[in-house]
Amino acid sequence: MEKTALRILILEDVPTDAELIEDSLRKAGVDFVRQSVDDRESFLESLAHFSPDIILSDYSLPGFDGEAALKIAREIAPEVPFIFVTGAVGEEFVVELLKSGATDVVLKHRLSRLSFCVKRAQEETEEKRIRRKAEEELRKAHQRLITVQEEERRSVARDLHDSLGSCLMAIKFGMESELDVAEKDQDSARTSRLAKLIGMVEEGFKETKRMQKQLRPPVLDDFGIVVAVQSLCRDFQVWYPSIHVETLIEIQEEDMPEGLKITIYRVLQEGLNNIAKHSGAKRAIVGLSKLDGAIHLLIEDRGKGFDFGQYKESRSESASMGIMGMRERTRLSGGTFSIDASEGKGTVIRASWPCRIPPPVKSRSCPEE
Ligand SMILES: Nc1ncnc2c1ncn2[C@@H]1O[C@H](COP(=O)(O)OP(=O)(O)OP(=O)(O)O)[C@@H](O)[C@H]1O
Ligand SMILES: [Mg+2]
Repeated sequence: MEKTALRILILEDVPTDAELIEDSLRKAGVDFVRQSVDDRESFLESLAHFSPDIILSDYSLPGFDGEAALKIAREIAPEVPFIFVTGAVGEEFVVELLKSGATDVVLKHRLSRLSFCVKRAQEETEEKRIRRKAEEELRKAHQRLITVQEEERRSVARDLHDSLGSCLMAIKFGMESELDVAEKDQDSARTSRLAKLIGMVEEGFKETKRMQKQLRPPVLDDFGIVVAVQSLCRDFQVWYPSIHVETLIEIQEEDMPEGLKITIYRVLQEGLNNIAKHSGAKRAIVGLSKLDGAIHLLIEDRGKGFDFGQYKESRSESASMGIMGMRERTRLSGGTFSIDASEGKGTVIRASWPCRIPPPVKSRSCPEE
């Protein structure tokens, strides 16, 4: 990659000091272009239009000061290194400036340090940029993985329905005709054998339906998230009658961004699985609401809870994926995820997403696919 000249913004009211700064950098072989400013307006203007790679600022200026400049820079351009180039100051003061967000402090009578500080700041910024890019790529890869996984699940669900489901249905019809014949022939041994086999095929068919639903709930595509959440809780109640589930839904279907629906469904699915598997609870609460410009999912149980701190520490050795998957799905869809759990006190999972995405056009297909 071709190296371009460093863009340096100098905030300095004494022209000779600005020249000294420039000289020291040129002598040290730093390739740069600069813009010098000496008041608030021109500093703001330069931040917006000159787009500096680095800011060198005096501490005290008439009508403006370095600390105010630092505050502005941290808000507008938080990634741009900000180095104070100032007259004599005490060590404690330097520490204070660094605490306020300055990258470094160089004294005017020791300008020989400046090029070193500039180069180091430049390298650190570049490292941060590379790290951020890598993190962004990782995030995108996770997102793609989840999308592909959902596609795959949808396709397996379709295959189960179209091939295995239809095939089992056909076998059942064929056997029922055979059963009619056996009954007419008063062949009791054959009748009972066929009845047993039909029962087994029916069980297989039910299991196929259950798997299909787990893989890709048709209700989500056909009726939306509100009905899908209610249906998931109802099914849970049937499968685990000893756990009473209270469902509180305070959101309209049209308030829910399309792309978020499958995420919410999967987080809830895993949350309920964990309640059934680990909590020993008699009561659980599922909430889905829109409040203060955000969508909130709550999965709470009054069961035995667990030591979440310890779980986080030992997680690297554990093979369990559920909580991590819930958190990743939430994070990747722009939400925040939290677990409040402690032994004997139950478990509360909260996931929230800002509703900045405009309401979708009514559609029956899943937008993420
Ligand atoms: N609602 C809950 N009540 C009590 N303990 C829980 C609850 N949810 C999770 N846990 C504890 O947290 C651990 C991690 O949960 P996680 O869902 O990540 O993994 P898992 O359910 O054990 O396995 P997986 O989800 O990968 O099949 C569980 O093993 C369990 O000890
Ligand atoms: Mg789990």
